[in-house]
Parts: sequence; C-alpha cells; structure tokens
Amino acid sequence: MVSSLTGLLIRPLASGDIPAIATWMITDPHWLHYGMTVSSIEHDLSSAIDQGDLALVADLASVPAGFAWCVRRGMFGSGAYLKRIGVDPAITGQGIGTALLHAIETELASAGADALYLLVGSGNPRAGAFYRQQGYEHLCTLPDFAIAGTDEHLLRKRLPSLSY
Ligand SMILES: CC(C)(COP(=O)(O)OP(=O)(O)OC[C@H]1O[C@@H](n2cnc3c(N)ncnc32)[C@H](O)[C@@H]1OP(=O)(O)O)[C@@H](O)C(=O)NCCC(=O)NCCS
Repeated sequence: MVSSLTGLLIRPLASGDIPAIATWMITDPHWLHYGMTVSSIEHDLSSAIDQGDLALVADLASVPAGFAWCVRRGMFGSGAYLKRIGVDPAITGQGIGTALLHAIETELASAGADALYLLVGSGNPRAGAFYRQQGYEHLCTLPDFAIAGTDEHLLRKRLPSLSY
C-alpha cells in the first residue's frame, strides 16, 4: 500500500520495526501516562505480530514513522478494536495518522467488518479531535477504565461495505 502522502509506504508491521518504534514511543508523554516502557512496548508489539493481528507500519524515507494495531475481534470477541495507533512525536500533524487509520479501515471493510471501535482517554484531546475529524462517534464513557483518574471514551465508526 502506498499512501497519497509523498514517500509514505504503509505495510505490515515486522519484528525488525519494533526497536525503532519503541525509541520514539518512549519519548511521547501519552504512552508514558499509560506506564509503558521500552520492554512493555516491545513485548506488546511482538505479541501483535505473533497473534496475527492487523498491525501496520508507515515508513517515511524507509524509517518507521507510525504504526496502527487492530485486534480483529477485540471488541467483546466480535467487533474490530483499534488497540493502538501512534506517530513519531517529531512528525505528527502531517497526515501519517490519517493514512494509517484509513489503511486499517480499508483492510477491515474489505474483510467484511462493519465497524471499528476504539478507546480514547479523557486526557488526550488531540487524539479526540483526530478521531472526530475521521468520523468516529462517541458511544459511552468508561470512568477510571485503564488508569484511576482517566476516563476512556468508547468511539465507533461504521465502515462501508466493501466485501463481495
Ligand atoms: C493521534 C495521532 C495518531 C494522530 O496522528 P497524526 O499523524 O498527528 O495525525 P494527522 O496528521 O493525520 O492529523 C489529523 C488530525 O489530527 C488532529 N491533530 C493531529 N496533530 C495535532 C496537533 N498537534 N494538535 C491538535 N490536533 C492535532 C487534527 O484534528 C488533525 O487535523 P488537521 O491536520 O486538519 O489539523 C498522533 O498525534 C499520535 O501518535 N498521538 C500520540 C499517541 C496517541 O494519542 N494515540 C491515540 C491513542 S487513543
């Protein structure tokens, strides 16, 4: 998959990408807020590959600039759940997150999924704005869901029918 963003290549995540992704994730206050460490990031992304989840990376100039990880039946064993999406904090706001999210949505819709669900924290208005712009609707709020003092908003986007 080649994105319309010049030079951006979206492809499946490989284990060799993980150290580079962990290097910039660990500089982002968002991931630190959730208690992530280099080893927890490496463990989680490796498990995404091992489990055969839908995990994509966006390469900019052949370097991993972002990733998105979706568990196909992660929503109560039924709906698709976007578990994590992240862009190198040095290059956010350039369309990489949008390209990754669109690639995940397209893959899911092609496989017959009718919706994508995700959680966004109350302390992350930037991601909230990102998802609103992408057409996600607020379903409910889960108080203190992952961390005490941080509410999680459950969002959903209906996907177009692309399967034959
Ligand atoms: C959320 C995230 C994945 C978005 O990726 P991105 O590459 O920055 O997104 P895009 O460049 O495609 O931006 C699309 C929209 O997101 C929002 N956005 C992105 N960067 C923003 C910023 N610095 N400030 C405010 N809004 C921003 C805007 O609505 C933007 O639209 P615009 O470009 O018309 O202003 C990225 O900012 C990120 O990795 N954040 C930290 C991790 C995180 O919060 N993940 C989501 C957890 S639920």
